[in-house]
Amino acid sequence: MNTNKTLSLSIMSGKGGVGKTNIVLNLGYALHNAGMTAMLMDCDLGLANLDVLLGISPERNLQDLLRQGVDAEDVLVSIEDGFDMLPATSGVPELVEMDEDMQDILFKKLVNLAGEYDYLMLDLGAGISSTVLSFAAMTQLRIVVVTPEPTSLTDSYAMIKVLVTQHRIRDFLILVNQATSAAEAKQTFERLAMTCKNFLNITLSSLGYIHQDRTLVESVRRQTPLLKFAPEARASKDINSLARRLMRYREDNRERIVERPILRDFVLM
Ligand SMILES: Nc1ncnc2c1ncn2[C@@H]1O[C@H](COP(=O)(O)OP(=O)(O)OP(=O)(O)O)[C@@H](O)[C@H]1O
Ligand SMILES: [Mg+2]
Repeated sequence: MNTNKTLSLSIMSGKGGVGKTNIVLNLGYALHNAGMTAMLMDCDLGLANLDVLLGISPERNLQDLLRQGVDAEDVLVSIEDGFDMLPATSGVPELVEMDEDMQDILFKKLVNLAGEYDYLMLDLGAGISSTVLSFAAMTQLRIVVVTPEPTSLTDSYAMIKVLVTQHRIRDFLILVNQATSAAEAKQTFERLAMTCKNFLNITLSSLGYIHQDRTLVESVRRQTPLLKFAPEARASKDINSLARRLMRYREDNRERIVERPILRDFVLM
């Protein structure tokens, strides 16, 4: 049995701009504040922006990692003690779609380092490119971020359908972002859950919701993570509860989760 401690998660969405990168970063902060170690990986290879939200310009990125002699540790950027990130790069077309050799190199260079953290979180690009699907299939769990907009719901369903039918993945944690009320968040989750039950015969789990909060928009402008910029903001409190729920989920499902490798080899189908 695999007894490693790491929980690996992909944060993904059907529609773009729903809040994935902000969620990865701030959830990372919340877990760090709760005494956990975490590594974030910017897997949005076309339009990377974890570094932008942090206001930093890393010297190296995932593209360098593909080169011989460069190890994951050489690319790693420390955000806080025990809280690190692997930056990606924007505007490099050959990285948007990785071929199998590139995927293999990345996987081999990452797998050992990843096992040293309590949490590994992958910030994926939006949509259903083969790179996104491969990354999503690599991790133990997947968080699908949806907003109450109808287009976000239909795009999420389309993405989940591909993962279910082509990658045989059946477990998804749904996180509703930019909700204006608890009732709206509940309705959003239930709509998606019902469609997935009826048409794909899968049961979705709810991870909760984050309020729409202008303070988050302001934190993006200031290039400072929300949890640092305004720890008392409504969305910060939501993200802290979310981190607690994730930690509980990890404990409750420990047996089931640790049996799976932290990172699986890519499965392209
Ligand atoms: N809870 C929220 N309240 C208010 N605005 C939000 C919230 N979450 C996200 N936003 C807005 O959405 C914008 C996009 O967020 P973010 O970059 O995290 O999305 P994304 O899903 O990573 O986008 P992409 O698909 O382009 O990678 C933010 O800059 C912010 O303006
Ligand atoms: Mg993003």
